[in-house]
Amino acid sequence: MSTIDLLPNVTSFSIGVILMALSSVFAVIHRALERYRDPLREVPGPFLARWTSLWLAYQVRMGRRYLVVDALHKKYGPIVRIAPNHVSVAHKDAINVVYGQGSRALDKSPYYHAFVSDKASIFSTVDRQEHAQKRRLVSQGFSYKSLMSVTPLLHANLYHFVEKIDEISQRPGSIDVLQWFNFLAFDILSDLAFGEPIGMVTNESDVVTVMCADGKVKEENAISLVDEREHLAAVVGIHPWFKTLSKFIPDPFFIRGHKSSTGLVDLARRRVTKRLESGSYREDILNKLIETRVEESGALTPEQVTELIAETVTLLIAGSDTTSNSITAIIHLVLTHPRVHEKLLQHLRDAVPDSQVPKHEDVKDIPYLTAVIEEGLRYYATTAIGLHRSVPRDGVLCLGKFFPEGTEMSVPAYTIQHDRTIWGDPENFRPERWLEEKDLGRYLLTFGKGPRQCLGRNLAYIEMQLVIATMLLRYDLKLESDNLETTEGFMHKPLRMIVEVKRKELAC
Ligand code: HEM
Repeated sequence: MSTIDLLPNVTSFSIGVILMALSSVFAVIHRALERYRDPLREVPGPFLARWTSLWLAYQVRMGRRYLVVDALHKKYGPIVRIAPNHVSVAHKDAINVVYGQGSRALDKSPYYHAFVSDKASIFSTVDRQEHAQKRRLVSQGFSYKSLMSVTPLLHANLYHFVEKIDEISQRPGSIDVLQWFNFLAFDILSDLAFGEPIGMVTNESDVVTVMCADGKVKEENAISLVDEREHLAAVVGIHPWFKTLSKFIPDPFFIRGHKSSTGLVDLARRRVTKRLESGSYREDILNKLIETRVEESGALTPEQVTELIAETVTLLIAGSDTTSNSITAIIHLVLTHPRVHEKLLQHLRDAVPDSQVPKHEDVKDIPYLTAVIEEGLRYYATTAIGLHRSVPRDGVLCLGKFFPEGTEMSVPAYTIQHDRTIWGDPENFRPERWLEEKDLGRYLLTFGKGPRQCLGRNLAYIEMQLVIATMLLRYDLKLESDNLETTEGFMHKPLRMIVEVKRKELAC
């Protein structure tokens, strides 16, 4: 960056720092005045967290929120104050209170405003009615029938992926399979939500062409866009002022995060516009999203096109690296647990006898595979933080304590999924527990719970079953390290997984 480029930032920096400092001083004075009637004053937690949201924002920025919150629960017990207005409750009885269904459901908190890029989507809208309407429109693309009609697209992407991995496995050295699972997941999602694969597997790269609002076309790294945008939102969502203030801070983390947000909308705009202009028909999720809107209003209005772009961006973000990160972590767990590996391979060989690339119908009903996936999601915790909810007007009673209107609450997923009172031996990776006891899904928070739970769960399972089965059946995988390094933005993600991949000898 040249000195000239820096000049505007110096001014922005000064304004940003002054505003941040003033707002912090103001917040501390305000809290000091409020202290005597602070309804959360009895809730234990770190000293700084009681006074400023910057403490929690900092933990998120460092990519370690779930570990810090887990340690706090070990120190203080099930109820911990992690920000002036935020209470984390790590207890199984809190799950239904915070993420319950129906009229008891708590709404998403203003934290989710940080996830709005251009227009609120099904994921980021906080308003209950607006959400219900969006969910009705989007969910049609995710019904079992709709998903069955798109399995040929999934299989086609998987076959292409396998051809590439076959080719790469002949090259010397190891590869980062996380990157390849990312390429595949992005290709699948863009095939379903944008109407064509983005071409990452073919190009062995995540560089994509995007269209800016002014019509200009440029290139971006799609995976970085998603990572940076999601991490930024997870930080600035902590306090309603942070999103605006962060635009004045010349830290590359904030600058890139804000640019990524726009970059993703640009990416979706190019794809959706192309599809609408072509007027072509194709059996995919984008088609369902278009059809449901056209059925309701005759033709798409410009407002509806913007909304369509917002929803497709959400699907790309919500459904791509979440799935590839989970696949990576589960395969890592399997490879580092030889007993589970051997047993799973036996079940897979029985179900897919001719060593072909499996189809959905081959792998959908293998109980041990599903148990491995569930245990992997529990142990690794793709969603590791507690998802933010707001206490409604009459307040909420949780674990015998009353929390007043406006308090933010969350149930930390990683801590619940490693709670000894629920799992007995949580630090053991033991898929059998899911076959022994049927009701454990109640405590798996990976896909959220209640009215805002994941809409793409079935699609994620199909992808996980197919890719995990294919990788284990078709290749010998040798890990470079038994340690999986991870970080956390909104989701918990591996940084890489280096593996030597060799095609298995085919039995005669
Ligand atoms: C293993 C993979 C996945 C994980 C771990 C995951 C996790 C989650 C979680 C935790 C939520 C709730 C978020 C909250 O309350 O803040 C969520 C919501 C959502 N997910 Fe997923 N997800 C996955 C795959 C997918 C896929 C493949 C799609 C679709 C393309 C998808 C689409 C959505 C949507 C649309 C929502 C918003 C639902 C609503 O608010 O009504 N997800 N996901």
